[in-house]
Amino acid sequence: MAAATNRQILLVDTPKGKLGPEHFRLREVEMPSANDGEVLLRVRYISLDAANRAWMQGATYRDAVEAGSVMAGGAVAEVVESKAPAFSRGDLVFADTGWQDYAVQPAKRLIKLPKIEPMTHLLSVYGIAGLTAYFGLLRIASPREGETVVVSAAAGSVGSIVGQIAKIKGCRVVGIAGGKAKCDWLVANLGFDAAVDYKAGSLFKALKAAAPKGIDVYFDNVGGDIFETCLAQMNMGGRISCCGAISAYDGAAPATGPRGVPGLIVVKRLTVKGFIVTDFFAEREKAIAELQAWVAAGKLKVQEDVIDGLENTPRALIGLLAGDNRGKRMVKVA
Ligand SMILES: NC(=O)c1ccc[n+]([C@@H]2O[C@H](COP(=O)([O-])OP(=O)(O)OC[C@H]3O[C@@H](n4cnc5c(N)ncnc54)[C@H](OP(=O)(O)O)[C@@H]3O)[C@@H](O)[C@H]2O)c1
Repeated sequence: MAAATNRQILLVDTPKGKLGPEHFRLREVEMPSANDGEVLLRVRYISLDAANRAWMQGATYRDAVEAGSVMAGGAVAEVVESKAPAFSRGDLVFADTGWQDYAVQPAKRLIKLPKIEPMTHLLSVYGIAGLTAYFGLLRIASPREGETVVVSAAAGSVGSIVGQIAKIKGCRVVGIAGGKAKCDWLVANLGFDAAVDYKAGSLFKALKAAAPKGIDVYFDNVGGDIFETCLAQMNMGGRISCCGAISAYDGAAPATGPRGVPGLIVVKRLTVKGFIVTDFFAEREKAIAELQAWVAAGKLKVQEDVIDGLENTPRALIGLLAGDNRGKRMVKVA
């Protein structure tokens, strides 16, 4: 049953520049207890997401994380006590528990999860990462067989799945990632047609060589200079799926926006569309079934990067922002 205390990681200060360990503190508090309509959750795996850093900058699609509060974050958690009829002890849920061992949540904020093995797949391929890749590519950018698809942060949790789905759909796939080792891995292990190391310099030339027929679909995870480079190489009638802007999350805001906006969008008749994965949650079950079929058929490889221990969560996020993860990063709490 529940431990006597609950460990929590607080965001003690809102970072102005780069995120560091000094922005967090671990504390122990009394165990929370559930009231009517609530459940007590034991956190099993915390999802580490680039967006965790963006939440510290201000309100986005959710409230900002304020200094002094438990750091926010999604997790797979297990019901240990329920005072809500829809949930029983032992149920698995996805919830914004924050970075702690235990959390109390109103039942209406929980998403019940199936019991899938390994449980970690509920955060990676069948969780936000897989669904973001699936809907952001297929619903927003509608890639067609033979087209060239470019994805940035390609070795990350969303990007690695985007590239593989684009391959399943018969596209030529080019990834953009930091470092030769990640680029080699994308081609050798995940079946990308080519990968470009944006840290090696000359991104424009390298991308031109990797996508000689131009770009039909760009799945943008990073914004900034990489967005600008891809925009300049888009084909007529191309589609850009705007998923996120990691390059602007950790540090001061960039001085200028990308060149070519809106000029190139007009001349090339581009469709540039943003989305939040929850926009498509009505279709969630269908998407998970298709992802499961691809995984079972060996067409979609699941790459997970699991770090042990709640106390290591700050380091896991700081490292993710610096690019030391491959695939879906998460922290095993219990
Ligand atoms: N729209 C939605 O509903 C939705 C949902 C989930 C996630 N997202 C977005 O999806 C994107 C991926 O997030 P994630 O949580 O899955 O993270 P992730 O891709 O697993 O990890 C982030 C990766 O970004 C790369 N990166 C960091 N700084 C960069 C920079 N300045 N320029 C280029 N690449 C950089 C790093 O890899 P390198 O080694 O390659 O630099 C790092 O590994 C984020 O933009 C996130 O906000 C959107």
